[in-house]
Amino acid sequence: EEFNAAGLHVLPGIIDPHVHFRDGGQGGIPGVEDMRSGSLAAVLGGVTTALDMPNTKPPTVDAATVRTKYEYIPGHTYCDFGFYVGATKENADHVGELEEMPGVCGIKVFAGSSTGDLLVEDDESIERVLRSSRHLVAFHAEDEYRLRERKPRFSVGDPYASHAEWRDPECAYRGARRIAALARKTNKRAHILHVSTREEFGFIKEHKDLISAEVLVNHLLQSGPEAYERLGGYAVMNPPIRSKEHQDAAWAAIADGTADTIGSDHAPHTAEAKERPWPTCHSGLTGVQTILPLMLSQVNAGRLSLLRLVDLMSAGPARIYGAVGKGRIAAGYDADFSIVDMKAKRRIENSMIASQCGWTPFAGTECTAWPMATIIRGNVVMFEGVVPGEPTGRAISFRH
Ligand code: DOR
Ligand code: ZN
Ligand code: ZN
Repeated sequence: EEFNAAGLHVLPGIIDPHVHFRDGGQGGIPGVEDMRSGSLAAVLGGVTTALDMPNTKPPTVDAATVRTKYEYIPGHTYCDFGFYVGATKENADHVGELEEMPGVCGIKVFAGSSTGDLLVEDDESIERVLRSSRHLVAFHAEDEYRLRERKPRFSVGDPYASHAEWRDPECAYRGARRIAALARKTNKRAHILHVSTREEFGFIKEHKDLISAEVLVNHLLQSGPEAYERLGGYAVMNPPIRSKEHQDAAWAAIADGTADTIGSDHAPHTAEAKERPWPTCHSGLTGVQTILPLMLSQVNAGRLSLLRLVDLMSAGPARIYGAVGKGRIAAGYDADFSIVDMKAKRRIENSMIASQCGWTPFAGTECTAWPMATIIRGNVVMFEGVVPGEPTGRAISFRH
């Protein structure tokens, strides 16, 4: 196919290194997400490659579930695809072997409680996972789990303001320090996902030899209490949207190099589950379809350069995960491109959202730049908001 890209920008393929497509190779969760709907949202949003978390149905935690997920990829994904294997207390000593299996981008450790039940919270188990790892261990490090047991401060009458207050930033800081100490002890590197507090960023900045860091779009673009007042349950995620000082620290981490990647943490839940009162409201926000237009609009607003954005959203994840052939525009390798119009103005609307749950926390937000085409291995997968073909995405290889 041919089209005229005059006046547009050609970016190397954009990688979203943090999505929850819910699908372990058995069709995901109807009405929430599966590999097909999640990856359709990705390519509509200009994302060429997504890395999926292991809290899927069924969870991706052993050789059989890794193989099932890998074999399901052909014919079910529009974007190229890699996935994490989840650490458990049972697999902690040999999870590193699973990293060598095709399609696996690294190990995910839920060191704090979250959606699903893949919790590995004790130091001894985390140490075993680190020793076993051969490539990359990515952490949900925030340790709010114990805090919840100690001091439940939420009040049902004032759910969202209390949500923000209850989720003490100290938990994230403690989580990051703990992971760094275990990484140092085992002589391994650690990747900390969704870093969200000023204290964590300050700490990680001093420990870049040990720790790489991901920042999420929602922590860059939203802050409380305003987000909770405006969005209610559609602002509830984990780690939470925090106060302005932490949001400012996330931008400083983009500017000073503390952040290595930007992710969406695309975490679909039904509208019904998001509208339940706290604390039963499900935690997590969609984002794979909006990450690129939102961040490009920040380039237009002067918050970061287009080159820095490309480093954080393409070269950075390719470097951290060792994604072979991705993020290398200089070599033209693999021919993955996200072609964007830096002058297109349009609002994000729920009606655009291809995720089965059908909502975005950014409904009504005007973006000043939009992806126009998504090209994967030379094929035009998306053009002007239309995805004409069947899913041709593949599992990608990682340099282990
Ligand atoms: O808010 C969240 N939702 N945080 C997580 O860590 C998991 C995610 C999900 O899977 O829904
Ligand atoms: Zn997480
Ligand atoms: Zn996540």
